[in-house]
Amino acid sequence: MAEEVRQRVDWLRREINKHNYLYYVLDQPEISDADFDRLMRELTELEERYPELVTPDSPTQRVGAAPRRQFGTHEHREPMLSLSNAFSDEELRAFDARAHRLLQIPEADPLEYVTEPKIDGLAVSLTYVDGLFTFGATRGDGYRGENITQNLRTIKSIPLNLNHTWEHPGAKRAFPAPRFIEIRGEVFLEHEEFRRINEERAEKGAPTFANPRNAAAGSVRQLDPSVTARRNLDIFTYAVGAVEGVEFAGQYEVLEALRYWRFKTNPEIRLCRGVDQALEFCGEFDTKRLSLPYDVDGVVVKVNSRELQERLGSVARSPRWAIAYKYAPTQAVTVIQNIIVQVGRTGALTPVAVMDPVEVGGVTVSRATLHNEDEIRRKDVRVGDTVVIQRAGEVIPEVVEVLKDKRDGDEIEFRMPDNCPICGADIEKPEGEAVARCVGIACPAQIGERIRHFASRLAMDIEHVGPALVNQLIEAHLVGDPADLYFLTLDQLMTLERMGEKSARNVLASIERGKDTTLNRLIYALGIRHVGERTAQVLAEHFAGLDRLRNASVEELSAVPDVGPVVAESIVRFFPRDETKTVLEKLRRAGVTPREVARPAGEQSPLAGKRFVFTGELRNLTREEAEEKVRLLGGSASSSVSKNTDCVVAGERAGSKLAKARELGVAVISEDDFLRMIK
Ligand code: IVH
Repeated sequence: MAEEVRQRVDWLRREINKHNYLYYVLDQPEISDADFDRLMRELTELEERYPELVTPDSPTQRVGAAPRRQFGTHEHREPMLSLSNAFSDEELRAFDARAHRLLQIPEADPLEYVTEPKIDGLAVSLTYVDGLFTFGATRGDGYRGENITQNLRTIKSIPLNLNHTWEHPGAKRAFPAPRFIEIRGEVFLEHEEFRRINEERAEKGAPTFANPRNAAAGSVRQLDPSVTARRNLDIFTYAVGAVEGVEFAGQYEVLEALRYWRFKTNPEIRLCRGVDQALEFCGEFDTKRLSLPYDVDGVVVKVNSRELQERLGSVARSPRWAIAYKYAPTQAVTVIQNIIVQVGRTGALTPVAVMDPVEVGGVTVSRATLHNEDEIRRKDVRVGDTVVIQRAGEVIPEVVEVLKDKRDGDEIEFRMPDNCPICGADIEKPEGEAVARCVGIACPAQIGERIRHFASRLAMDIEHVGPALVNQLIEAHLVGDPADLYFLTLDQLMTLERMGEKSARNVLASIERGKDTTLNRLIYALGIRHVGERTAQVLAEHFAGLDRLRNASVEELSAVPDVGPVVAESIVRFFPRDETKTVLEKLRRAGVTPREVARPAGEQSPLAGKRFVFTGELRNLTREEAEEKVRLLGGSASSSVSKNTDCVVAGERAGSKLAKARELGVAVISEDDFLRMIK
């Protein structure tokens, strides 16, 4: 192989790593996503053609590991300790006084402390051998954790190699990669990503995560790394465990080394002289943290000097040289004037307490979430009650406790309304679920969710209309119900941010293509309560026309196999509603006339459960697109061939993977075969 190829591959990796770092760690991208994709594509193609050039730290190797059945364990060379807590300024002063005493340093000589935001996420350890990322593990019991290497590789702010080949911006000192090092940090999710994941889960009917921390933990402990990869996890590193071949004078230098090695460290970290400065930081940071895009539940105060750290040592399982200054979830007492019901974007109804305004942790609040009806019953919250409210990580306060001895008998119990307070439609609360939802098709509070469902793959399958675009459309008041999609114009779309003419045309084309659909898909897309994909199928087959379904009586509907009285009732109530009529009329005007002959929508895709590997150059779609198609159709895609692979799709100039597939007797098909399969 030509030397130029090797050099090109090296150059590509350096560029990709650099831009990756600028984007994910420094948040200062220098090139466009498209340019970045081009670099990545070229590297992928070269590695395909010359598989002998693939290295484990190549930026192409972050995703692609096969799902596993369980995690192995990983032993930490140096245990991962926990921290003791200080819940007040006095307790932090006591910690400082004890350190002085143990070190026999007079209190008049201030100790140097490093103060760091305490990130509320999941502690992990990253092991690098000769600079190469080799193991990643959870904290576990502190001595032994779970081996989650493949999942951590998908986090783009984790470098795969510490031997960097481009200059570090503003490094005061160089830190060559040590022979061995354990790096500790906190994996977390930003609020926005947490919300996105929960919305996606709600849409699929999967249980949602209670907070960003749980979501991060759930994502890191995913058996399928491709799921982790889609969660956009991030990490702040803050400590080292066992090390060989490098020494640090103190914590601040550890952070410098971490930065030099291209890890992400928190920008809010300070070096403080004495406990007073540390306390000042804690005080200031209490308000600041509320404006950060991730949860912080305190400040970690660390003695800077390594030498002093060693002299202080540790007791039980926490060091005596560091402590967590915890922000108490701030509480206050007030009276509930009313309980109202808010409708969220998924139609979920949340009872909210309207209270006498009260100050909690520096802000005046007059509303607190009561979560759901079951919670209200459990805590027995009534209108007129005197309650304790608290504000924790996320900004919305909640009611923690009712002060029952303050009752005078005039308190009123809460009842969930039967109709949506926004649009008046029915409210549904499925058996065994805590959350009640509004079923109105054009409910202003949940239009986004409705439209997303309408456009989704098993419904109208409008490829280019994803959640982000739907949000943009709603914010720009371009759509108010699902049928409005069909009346969008090129000019309107082009007024949206980040929407060029080409993308706008793609959007319009995919909306247009969606018109050619089947009756079962359309019925499903309408989002009638209790009518899932399967029921939509049965109804389409039976009635073979929307008008016939619309005019059917409860008796006729109940006579259809698989349609019970509850479903029948729900359908009969759905069609006469004004908002339904409007939507159907607009669909008719737009020319959405489904093929009356139904074809199974949820028919078992030939790809379901199958593992695919793509190799060589594809002509009609990028590898990412091909893999995405596989996943959408219920299969999975990986980058290496094994005996578990079901099918290898070989493009042009396929090399070693093709050979391996032949050797293992794995089915090999062409790109054209694949395209036919997914049609
Ligand atoms: S230092 C011995 N620094 O807090 C040093 N921990 O209760 C131990 N954490 O398990 C860790 N941010 O999950 C340290 N800047 C930070 C931190 C931090 C969050 C977490 C970490 C640890 C827990 C200790």
